[in-house]
Amino acid sequence: MLKGLWLWLGRLLGKLLLTVALIGLVGWGAGELYYAWKFSGPVSTQEQIPADEAALTRLIIEDAVRIVEQHRDNTRVLRDAHAKAHGCVRADVQVLADLDASLRQGVFSEPGHVWQAWMRLSNGNAYPQFDRARDARGMALKLLDVPGEKLMKSPQHAGEQDFVMFNHPAFFVRDVAEYRSNFAAQADGQKVQAFFPSWDPRTWEVRHLVIALKTLSPAPESPIDTTYNSIAPFKLGDLNIKYRVVPAPQNCPPYQLPEQNTALPNFLRNALYQQLSLDRAPACFELQVQKQDAQYYMPIEDPSVEWDEKLSPFESVARITVPPQDFDSREQNLFCDNLSFNPWHALAAHRPIGGINRLRKSVYEAVSAYRHQRNAAPAAAGPENSASQVDEEETGTELSQ
Ligand code: HEM
Repeated sequence: MLKGLWLWLGRLLGKLLLTVALIGLVGWGAGELYYAWKFSGPVSTQEQIPADEAALTRLIIEDAVRIVEQHRDNTRVLRDAHAKAHGCVRADVQVLADLDASLRQGVFSEPGHVWQAWMRLSNGNAYPQFDRARDARGMALKLLDVPGEKLMKSPQHAGEQDFVMFNHPAFFVRDVAEYRSNFAAQADGQKVQAFFPSWDPRTWEVRHLVIALKTLSPAPESPIDTTYNSIAPFKLGDLNIKYRVVPAPQNCPPYQLPEQNTALPNFLRNALYQQLSLDRAPACFELQVQKQDAQYYMPIEDPSVEWDEKLSPFESVARITVPPQDFDSREQNLFCDNLSFNPWHALAAHRPIGGINRLRKSVYEAVSAYRHQRNAAPAAAGPENSASQVDEEETGTELSQ
C-alpha cells in the first residue's frame, strides 16, 4: 500500500517536472522566435530623439544626486556609479602603425602616434563593497593633450578625449524613459518594480533583468584580466561604431600573476599593485572598434542589443600599455577620486550617439560638479592632469610594437 503510494507520488513528480521542462522549452523557443523577428534589420544610421528626453533627464539628475547623498561615506561624497577605484594608472595608447585608412579618425588619425593617458579601474556599484561581490567592473581612459575643439566647452577638459566602459557588452535598459522608471524604482529600494513596473506583462522587462543579472558578475582575477565595452555607440568620423578594450598579454613580456587572496576586500587593487609595482610587469590591452552594419539589427537607440560580432567583427585600432609604476599613494588616490570622466569629453570625430549617451552628458557633468563642490575639491585639471606630469615619472617599459 505504502509502496504504491510512493510509486504514484514519484510518477506525479516526474510528470510535473516534465511539464515544467516542456513549458520552459516552449517559452524559450517562443522567446527566440520573437526576438529573431523583433531584432531584424535594417536599422537607422541616425539618432532619433524622443520629445520627452530632456524632461526625463532632469528627473534622473535629481535621483542621481539623491543616490550620491545616500551612499556618501563619512568623509567624502563619492561617484554615483563606479565609486570604488582599484587605482588610477598611467598608460600609453599607441595608434596602430598600419591602421586602415577608413579608421584614421580623431585621435586615431596619425598611425604610430602615442598618447599619454590616465586609466581609472573601478567596481560599478554606487557604494564601495568587497571586490568579491558580484558587480560590473569599469575602465575609464583619458587621453591627454589632445588638440582640437571638444564637444564640451569646459576649459578644464579642453585637452581630453575620454573612453568610458564596463565589462559587460549590453546595457540593462534600452532608453532614457526606461532608465528613468528603472532608476527611480531602484532609488526607492523597489528592485522587483524596476523590471516589472506593473501587472501588465507587456511592461515586463525580462530580457533586461537577465542582462542586469549577468552584468553583476564575479570579479576577474585582476582588473587587467577582463574586456571593457563602450556598450553604447559613438561616431568615428562618418562611421557609427562601438568600441572595447581587450587584454592583449601577447603584446607584453610573459607574466603570470600569483594567485590572489580573494577574501581580502580590495584584492583587485592588490592584484594591480602586485603586477605593476612589486613585480614591475607591464600590462597590455588593445583598443578595438566595431562598425555598425545597418543592414542588420545594430541599433543606435538601444544599447541593450549587442551588435553581432559574427556580422561585424571588432578591429584593433590602438595598443595600450600600462607600464610598471607606483600608483598607490595617498596623493594619487585623491587625484584619481577627483578626476572626472565623461564620454562627452571628446572630439566631434568621437561624438557619443544614442539616448543613453545623450543622457550621460548632463548626468555625469552634474554629479561630478556636485561631488567636487561637496568635497571642496578642485576639478582634477590643470598642470597635474596633463601629459607633462606623466612625462616626469619613469615609464619603466618600452612600448611593444
Ligand atoms: C553605456 C553605458 C555606461 C557605461 C559603459 C558606464 C560606465 C561608467 C564608468 C566606467 C564610470 C566610472 C568613470 C570613472 O572612473 O570616473 C561611470 C561613472 C558614472 N556613470 Fe556611467 N556608464 C554607463 C551608463 C550610465 C548611465 C545611463 C548613467 C546615468 C544616467 C550613468 C551615470 C554615471 C555617473 C553619474 C557616473 C559618475 C560620474 C562622476 O561623478 O564623475 N552611467 N560610468
